[in-house]
Amino acid sequence: MCGIFAYLNYLTPKSRLEVLDLLVTGLKRLEYRGYDSTGVAIDSPDSKNIVMVKRTGKVKVLEDAIKEHFSGGEYSEPVMTHIGIAHTRWATHGVPCERNSHPHRSDEGNGFVVVHNGIITNYNDVKTFLAKRGYEFESDTDTEVFAKLVHHLWKTHPTYSFRELVEQAILQVEGAFAIAVKSKHFPGECVASRRSSPLLVAIKTKSRLATDHIPILYGKDDKKQTSDQDTDSGKPQVLPRSDSTSEFMPEEKEVEYFFASDASAVIEHTNRVIYLEDDDVAAVRDGTLSIHRLKKSLDDPHAREITTLKMEIQQIMKGNYDYFMQKEIFEQPDSVVNTMRGRVRFDGNAIVLGGIKDYIPEIKRCRRLMLIGCGTSYHSAVATRQLLEELTELPVIVELASDFLDRNTPIFRDDVCFFISQSGETADTLMALRYCKQRGALIVGITNTVGSSICRESHCGVHINAGPEIGVASTKAYTSQFISLVMFALVMSEDRLSLQQRRLEILQALSNLADQIRKVLKLDSKVQELAKDLYQHKSLLIMGRGYNFATCLEGALKVKELTYMHSEGIMAGELKHGPLALVDDSMPVLMIVLRDPVYVKCMNALQQVTSRKGCPVIICEEGDEETKAFSSRHLEIPRTVDCLQGILTVIPMQLLSYHIAVLRGCDVDCPRNLAKSVTVE
Ligand code: F6R
Repeated sequence: MCGIFAYLNYLTPKSRLEVLDLLVTGLKRLEYRGYDSTGVAIDSPDSKNIVMVKRTGKVKVLEDAIKEHFSGGEYSEPVMTHIGIAHTRWATHGVPCERNSHPHRSDEGNGFVVVHNGIITNYNDVKTFLAKRGYEFESDTDTEVFAKLVHHLWKTHPTYSFRELVEQAILQVEGAFAIAVKSKHFPGECVASRRSSPLLVAIKTKSRLATDHIPILYGKDDKKQTSDQDTDSGKPQVLPRSDSTSEFMPEEKEVEYFFASDASAVIEHTNRVIYLEDDDVAAVRDGTLSIHRLKKSLDDPHAREITTLKMEIQQIMKGNYDYFMQKEIFEQPDSVVNTMRGRVRFDGNAIVLGGIKDYIPEIKRCRRLMLIGCGTSYHSAVATRQLLEELTELPVIVELASDFLDRNTPIFRDDVCFFISQSGETADTLMALRYCKQRGALIVGITNTVGSSICRESHCGVHINAGPEIGVASTKAYTSQFISLVMFALVMSEDRLSLQQRRLEILQALSNLADQIRKVLKLDSKVQELAKDLYQHKSLLIMGRGYNFATCLEGALKVKELTYMHSEGIMAGELKHGPLALVDDSMPVLMIVLRDPVYVKCMNALQQVTSRKGCPVIICEEGDEETKAFSSRHLEIPRTVDCLQGILTVIPMQLLSYHIAVLRGCDVDCPRNLAKSVTVE
C-alpha cells in the first residue's frame, strides 16, 4: 500500500539536493509495500514556495526526473531547517497518473501539501462542501480534499496553529489514514497523524536521547465550541480547538525527524522511533516534537514510548541476491531458528512463549480456538489446524478475515482468537480483531512486525521474529508463522501424558528443521529446470491432502501472484468431485505424495491423474522409489514428522513460483496490482 516518508532537519544543515536524496532513498525502502506512482515536495530555493515532482511508475523514474528538475546550484546551498515530504501511491481513487500522485496541494500557490495512506470515506461530502466555497479539484483522489480542507480552515481561522488546522481537518474526515502535511505558511513545521494506517516518527540526535518517552498532550475540554461561519447543516463542523502548552524538546538543539509508514525506511538513520497510535497528532515546530490526542480516553497512557529498533540495515538490503524474495526464501534455515530462539529448549524438551505464557491457563479453559488471517497468513492457519486439534483437543476454526467480517460471526467471551499477520497492519485482519475484542474474546496476535497495530491491540501474542520481509510475496513469514503455531500447540500439550511421545517426535524434528531446509534449498537448480518446462503454460494444478493441503493453497497463491499464471490448490480428496475433468495430457499438474497417514489416499489420486494421461511432477520423500515410479519428474525432500512436512514441501513451491516469474519477465518483488501491507478493506 501507499508509503509515506517525510524528513525534517532542524539546525542541521542540509542542501535541498541532500534532502531529495534522503527522500528518494526513503521511498526506495518503502517500495516493497507496492505502489504505482511517486512524488516529493520540498521548498523552493527562496523558501517562499513549495516545489513538487511526481511521476507514474517506479521510484527510479522519479529519481531521474528529480535529477533533471533540480540540477541548478541553488539547490546545493545548505539550509538549516527544512521539511520534505514524499510518497509512493497505490491507486484506490483514480488511475495511476501524475495528476493523481501525491503530494496533493491545497491551492495553486501550494499553500499546504499532503501525503496520505488509506481512504477518506466521506471525501465526497467534504468535496461538495469545499466546491461550494469555490475550491476546484484537479485529481480524482480522496486525498486532495484533505489539503483543501486544511486551506479552508486556515482562511477561516487565521489564528490557528498548523497543528490545530490539521487537527480540525482530521476531525471532519472519516475512514482510515496516515497523513503528513507541509505548508509554506508554516515553514520548518510538519504535522502528521494516523487512524488505522501505520505511521511512526523517528528521532535522530547526535548524542543519546535523555528520555525514552514523550508526554501526550490534550486539548482543553472546557473550551467553547467554535462554529465555522461557513458551515452548512450536515457539513463539516469545526470542533473545539485544542490548546496545549507543554511540549517535548530534545536535550540538544540539532535534531532530525523522520515520519514513515514503517521502520525499514528509517533504520539507516536512527533506531529511535515512536509508533503513533490512532488519533495521535505529531507536530514538529522549532525543532520540538509534540504528540497530541484528538480525544481523551480513560485508558490512554500518559506518554508514547520511544522504542529502540532491533532491526539491522543489512536485513533490508538484497545482499548478493537478485531479488528480495529470493533472499528471503534462502534465509529460511536461519529465520526458522530465529523463531524458535530462546523459546525451544531441545535439551530439556521445554517450550516457553514469553508473550502468552501468563494466558495459557485461560486459553486452556476456552470454548474454541479461532485462527484468522488473510492470504498466506491464513494458509499458515490451515497448515497447523490439524496439529492444534490434536495437541490442544479443542475445536479449531480457521477463518479468512474478509469472509469472517462479512458474516457477523458469533463470538463469545470464552473464545480465543488468533490474528495472524506478517505486517500486523492488514485492514481486514485488524477489523476482525476489533470485532472479536469488542465481544470479549481473548486476542492473540501472531505477527512479524513489532509495534504494528495488531501487535498493540492484542492482549498477548507471539512475534514470529522472521526478520523484515520485503518481497511482496510472503515466504519466510509463512514458515515462521507455521512454527509459531506449532510451538503454541506444544505448549498447550505440555502436561498431557498421553501426548508426550508425539511431542518428543515433533521437538526432535524441529531441531533438524534448519538442516533439512538447507537440503531442500539445494533443489534450486532442479526447480529452475522444471520452471523452464512450465513457464509457458497457462495453468498449474497443485494437489495434495492432509498436512500438505495448505502447501497446495500456498503454492497456487505464490504462482498466481508472482507469475500471473492461473493456478489452483486442489484437495486431492475432492479430485473426483470436479477438478479431475481438467486433467489431460496437456494440463500441468504437481502432486505432493508423502509417506504419512494419507499416503494411500494420495496414491489413489496420483493413479487417477496418470490414468487420464496426466504426467504430474511429484514431490515425494527421498528414496521413495515406489512413488517416483509414477512419473519421470520428481522433487525429493527429506523425511520429517508429518505435521512439519508442510514447511519442507512449501519451499519447492516458493522456488518454482520465483523461477517461473523470472522466466516470464515478471517483477518478482513487486507483482502487479499487489501491495505488501494491505491497509484498506
Ligand atoms: C501472499 C501475501 C499475501 C499476504 C496477505 C496478508 O504472498 O503476501 O497474501 O499474506 O496480504 O498479509 P499479512 O500477513 O501482512 O496480514
